[in-house]
Amino acid sequence: MNKLLVSLLLTLGVTGLAQAAGDAAAGQAKTAVCAACHSPDGNSMVPNFPKLAGQGERYLLKQLHDIKSGARQVVEMTGILTNLNDQDLADIAAYYASQKGSIGQADPALVERGAALFRGGNLQTGMPACTGCHSPNGEGNDLAAFPRLSGQHAQYTALQLNNFREGIRNNDGDSMIMRSIAAKLSNKDIEALSSYIQGLH
Ligand code: HEC
Ligand code: HEC
Repeated sequence: MNKLLVSLLLTLGVTGLAQAAGDAAAGQAKTAVCAACHSPDGNSMVPNFPKLAGQGERYLLKQLHDIKSGARQVVEMTGILTNLNDQDLADIAAYYASQKGSIGQADPALVERGAALFRGGNLQTGMPACTGCHSPNGEGNDLAAFPRLSGQHAQYTALQLNNFREGIRNNDGDSMIMRSIAAKLSNKDIEALSSYIQGLH
């Protein structure tokens, strides 16, 4: 069942998304306004502003289109993408994807629970392991637009998992993949996973 879902998503990822022909150098010049929150190289210093450095290009491009169209609501970015066209967004995605993402630290007290969930899922609730899509080291799978998670700020990750669980973030497609996974996470699971991911590499 999960294998079927993954191959379905892979197919969608390959054919369903616009081909990104981004130019990283051109993209850098278009990120001046973004740097205040995401830092010049995309390694944001603020725990609730996501790191973009080293994130997959396809995933970044999808999020930029979703944020611009309102399919994903980011109030902090209201109006910021309005005057950027598809080429601008592709260039920006290429730029951040070309940067090296920094890694943080996990809380030692949470590592065991976080690692167990990330690598093994939860048999009782039928929650799949995160590794199947986001890869064992959290690198993600850019061909399928499965995002890189490793090194991401724990506060940002926890907010996303909570938002998927509550349906506040719902741009994960008709398969509702992250909404159905997050629905099986407790607050403690989210805390442990987010901390583990912050130190994962
Ligand atoms: C005022 C602060 C601010 C500015 C300026 C800003 N962003 Fe953001 N951005 C955010 C916040 C906050 C989020 C996450 C919101 C949430 O919790 O979903 C975000 C999310 C994103 C994401 C999704 C990341 C992910 O991992 O899913 C991308 C991509 C992004 N921003 C790109 C940009 C680009 C490109 C610019 C400039 C053109 C920009 N942002 C300007 C605050 C900002
Ligand atoms: C079957 C594939 C699959 C599995 C398994 C999976 N994810 Fe995801 N995940 C996705 C996809 C696809 C997205 C991007 C959704 C979108 O386009 O907005 C995503 C997005 C995310 C995001 C948002 C990233 C960001 O930068 O905003 C987080 C956090 C996340 N997943 C964590 C997890 C965790 C933790 C687990 C395990 C408990 C998990 N995922 C299991 C496919 C998966």
